[in-house]
Amino acid sequence: MNPLPAGRVKCAIVTGGASGIGRALARDLSARGVAVTIADLDEAAGKRVAAEFGLDFAPLDVTDAEAVAALFQRVRQARGRLDFVFNNAGIAIGGATEELSLAHWDKAVDVNLRGVVHGVHAAYPIMLEQGFGHLVNTASMAGLVPAPFMLPYTTTKHAVVGLSLALRAEAAARGVRVSVVCPGFTDTPLLDHANPGLPETEMGRQARSAAVRAQGRLYSVDALSRDILRGVARNQALIVAPASGRMAWRGARMFPAGAVRAAALAVRRLRVSPPDKTDI
Ligand SMILES: NC(=O)c1ccc[n+]([C@@H]2O[C@H](COP(=O)([O-])OP(=O)(O)OC[C@H]3O[C@@H](n4cnc5c(N)ncnc54)[C@H](O)[C@@H]3O)[C@@H](O)[C@H]2O)c1
Repeated sequence: MNPLPAGRVKCAIVTGGASGIGRALARDLSARGVAVTIADLDEAAGKRVAAEFGLDFAPLDVTDAEAVAALFQRVRQARGRLDFVFNNAGIAIGGATEELSLAHWDKAVDVNLRGVVHGVHAAYPIMLEQGFGHLVNTASMAGLVPAPFMLPYTTTKHAVVGLSLALRAEAAARGVRVSVVCPGFTDTPLLDHANPGLPETEMGRQARSAAVRAQGRLYSVDALSRDILRGVARNQALIVAPASGRMAWRGARMFPAGAVRAAALAVRRLRVSPPDKTDI
């Protein structure tokens, strides 16, 4: 750990901090004077990011509940407090539902849902004891609107939204804050390695181009990090970005059946594969 005076400097843990959204959050929190520990499965990338921004790195697999609890206790002891936990680590699972094996479902649940549960289970008692702290769980727009061709992902992200909002209500009187982040498609390496360690699928291979076709333009990770930290500072329950995502979310709440029809139209468009380069 960097030698910072225990008890005074705010501190944060960012899971999945070695890449993409987590990396940007860790960088921007550190720039605001927060002592950040990034925790990630990818040790090489984690060490690189930690060295680049002067952060602490801890190797961590969020599917390992004991390891998550041990790390959070270690950070709390070293810093004397635990202000923010960003349960952000996640993986992309993509494919037509009939293509997906149970292994796709299991891995989505293990990383995207159990990973968040482990983070909450480890951090919440610490924050209750302190009487303060902010849990920030990363879900997705796929946790708010019907998102076909990524059913295991969509399922876990809806669960993270539900978990976070219910815990927010329960925790409010105890001084602990809970927010959930729902980004639209964002330009990170996630879109280039869908289905990690799992059988590949057609849609998984095309994740980046499908995301561009669905959203028009990918959101920038730097803009998203600013949105998230602004939402955290305002203690927003749901942090939804970009603006097009907020519109889609509003539409889905007002016209749920319309949102399903719009998703069905998108399915039809996505099923029409782009022309093969060898076509004449
Ligand atoms: N990029 C998008 O379009 C997008 C959109 C909505 C939500 N999200 C969510 O944002 C979060 C961050 O995604 P990203 O786009 O920055 O992806 P990313 O792939 O760039 O980064 C994810 C990080 O999580 C780490 N990770 C994966 N499994 C892990 C595990 N078991 N334990 C610990 N670390 C693990 C990876 O090593 C990686 O460093 C994820 O929860 C993702 O579902 C991303």
